[in-house]
This record gives sequence, structure tokens and C-alpha cells, in this order.
Amino acid sequence: MGNPPPPVLTVGLPKEIESLINDILKNASVSSIPLDMDAIIAEITPKPCLVISGPPTPELPANEIAQSLRMQFQEIPLLLCCTQKEGFERKAFIKNGFTDAFLLPLDLANLRSSISDRMAEASKGEIRTFRPVKIIDLEPGATLDFETHIFLPANKRYIKLSASGDSLETDRIDRIKKSKFSTIQVPAEQMKHFYSYSAKRLRDLGSGAMSVTEKREKLSGAVRDLISGLFSEQASSFESGQSMMKDCGQIVKTYIVEGAESEWYSRIQSVLGERGDSYSHSANVSTLAALFSMGLGIGKPEDLALAGLLHDIGIAELPPEIQILDPEQMTPAQLELYKKHPELTVNLIKSRKLIVPEIVSKAILQHHELYNGSGYPSGLFGDRICKEAQIIALADRFDYLTRVRDGRPLMTPAQAVDHLRSLQVNDPSRIHYEPELLKRLLNLFPGSKPETSPSS
Ligand SMILES: [Fe+2]
Ligand SMILES: [Fe+2]
Repeated sequence: MGNPPPPVLTVGLPKEIESLINDILKNASVSSIPLDMDAIIAEITPKPCLVISGPPTPELPANEIAQSLRMQFQEIPLLLCCTQKEGFERKAFIKNGFTDAFLLPLDLANLRSSISDRMAEASKGEIRTFRPVKIIDLEPGATLDFETHIFLPANKRYIKLSASGDSLETDRIDRIKKSKFSTIQVPAEQMKHFYSYSAKRLRDLGSGAMSVTEKREKLSGAVRDLISGLFSEQASSFESGQSMMKDCGQIVKTYIVEGAESEWYSRIQSVLGERGDSYSHSANVSTLAALFSMGLGIGKPEDLALAGLLHDIGIAELPPEIQILDPEQMTPAQLELYKKHPELTVNLIKSRKLIVPEIVSKAILQHHELYNGSGYPSGLFGDRICKEAQIIALADRFDYLTRVRDGRPLMTPAQAVDHLRSLQVNDPSRIHYEPELLKRLLNLFPGSKPETSPSS
């Protein structure tokens, strides 16, 4: 006897669609949530086997619905149902991250067969989703408390490479180690164990009885492996890039929560919970900054993670019309106001009585300062800007460049790295980041060839 299949989740279905769907689903279990941002970003358990969304609205366009749902349900089919022909563009919806889109009642037969196929799979218990991972720092004799599988694309099958608790001997270790990112797959339900494993290895590497140089090299290698997911072919689609970033975020979070000074994390998250949409920007900057810190051996990853989470919260104090603009779109007057956000952030931290280390406040205050002195709020230059602030600035820039606007990112991660490399310019007046730091950071990205310093 198998378990009953997981429920179908419906999101904001209008009455007329709901009755059609109920008719198809018959006695499957269904849970429903309204189509609003709070409801779709809240953690939904148990995981559904299928998600069916109602039509987008002016407040919540299709790309935002798809992206938000994809943050939780990376590999679960996501169907969109609309009744209005106007604005219905199946291809665009699929590009946004939906698995398929249906215009009802025209596409009813297709919708019916999509749903039935999925429910048939689910009831046979055949639904097992996997996540591509890179397993860092494996040594012979290691045991992993999660399964590893390899995916054979030719016949679309997963083959188990190791069971949870297996003691791994050299040849299997080699196979796992040599695998490219995305070759090794972990069952989605065991990802927690993968996060703990990775976090613990990062900690061990940082505190092991090795020479400083050896430690640094090992940590850089591990961080490079983790970041490599963002650059793999799989990450070419928006949602897999996002979910890999989310996996890195979970590893960093586990690293911090399992560390000594951990209770701030949940407190900060509750503060950020009120902030809505820019949360993923803060989360990404936090993740990247912590990984950069580990990979470069600069600052404490905990401090960088905290500074990343908080770095822009002061933007919430600005007039709403400014908050939604990119700096390039602002009028000079708006830009002047916007430039106050590092100070507003630090003030907000104080007024909220959030106790953060001095270096965290400093990194936040200086995260828009530039090496050549052209930044704000103080126009600091060179070494007067702390390294932590430069790391936040680089993480901020990287996330800004790869962030999705209107359904597509401005740049792919690889293009963003090339862009950062192009900033290693000959013209000293245009140097935004400390050259040595930027050079080392670029070497941390996978596929980067060691670069020479900007010419003198
Ligand atoms: Fe900022
Ligand atoms: Fe930012």
C-alpha cells in the first residue's frame, strides 16, 4: 500500500476555473491559497504534487507569481489557468517559469490530460524530485547521511550512487569528486542533510589543523564548488539559478545557525519579514557576501551574512515612489534622497535596538563607497573603506546585475563576472573596488583564469 499522493495546491483560482478543476481532480486532496504575495511566499506544507495558479493580476504579474512559487517548488509542475484571451501568451508564461499555461475553456482537454498524468504518477508514488548539488571536501571513509544519485540524461533516469550512511571508499569518492556540478543529485526531501553536511565541512575547513595557506586554499576551492552551481548549464534557466542561490543560502544559514552566535539570525529574519519584495535581494547579498568572505578569508562570514541581510533596510524609510525605481531611473533629487539609505539603515538598526557588531554597521554605512572616492555617503576612498564594505558592495553588484527584471535577468552570472572583470580598468579614476580584492574575487568564480592586476 502506497501513501496517498500529496495534495494539489491551487492558487487564487476564480470560481469558474475552480469548478472545472474540481471536476478533473475528483477526490484528490486539494489545498487552496489566495493569489497574494504573503500567501505564496509563506512556507507551504505538505509539499504539493502539482500547483495550479489562477490568472495573473496587475498587482501580481505572471513572472512574479512564477518566481515566488518557484522559490518553494523548484521541480513541481506549475500550471497557469486563464480565461481571458487578452494577455494570454503561453510561451511567455512558460519562459516566466510556469510548466504550462492553459486558456480555458479552449484548452480544457489538454489541461485534463496534464493533470491526470501528474496525478497518475503521484498515486504510484513515482514522484521523487532531486536537486543537483556539488559535494565539497569529501574524504575516503566519509559517510554522508543523504543519498547521492547520478542522472543519466539519455534515458532520463536516476541511478543511486550511494545510500545514506554508506562509508564511501576511494573509487566512489573519486566519482563524486570528479562529477561536474549538476551530475550528482540528492533527493529533494534529504536536502536538509546536504545543507548540514556542507555547512559543517565549511566550518571544519575554516578551523582545521592546517596551515593558514592550506586552509585558505581548501576553503576557496569549496566555495568555488558551491558557487559553480550558479554557472552551470542548468542555471541558464531562471528558476534553477534561483534555486541554486537558495541552496547556497540554506548552507550559509545552516553554517550560521549551527555556529556559536546564532540567535540573531531568526530575529533579523523576523524584522525582514515585514519588508516583502526586496527580501530576496538581501538574502542573496547575504549569501554571496558570506561565501566571498569564506572564499577570500576576509572578515567573519557571520558578520558579512548579517550585513548583507540588513544592508538596505533603510530604503523602506524613503518615499514609496523612490523605492520601486532603480537608481538609473531616478531624478537627481530622488537620487539625492536615495543616497541617504546607508545612513538610514544604520539609524534604523539602532532605533530597532538590533545589536550588531561594530564592523557590521561600518560595512553597511560604507557599502556604496567606491575605491576612487566617487561613492556615497562620505566619498571615502582607498583603504578608508573597510574590506567588509567592499565585499558587500561586490555581492550587491553581482546580485543587481543578475537580478530578474520583467522576467529576465539583466545578465547571466557569467556575464556579470565578465562585467566585474571589465571594471579592472586601466583608468585609476574609474576604479570602484580595491584591485587586489577584485582580482581575488574573480579568481573565486568558476572558470576564471587567474588575472593580472590592473595595469599600473
Ligand atoms: Fe544599498
Ligand atoms: Fe543592495
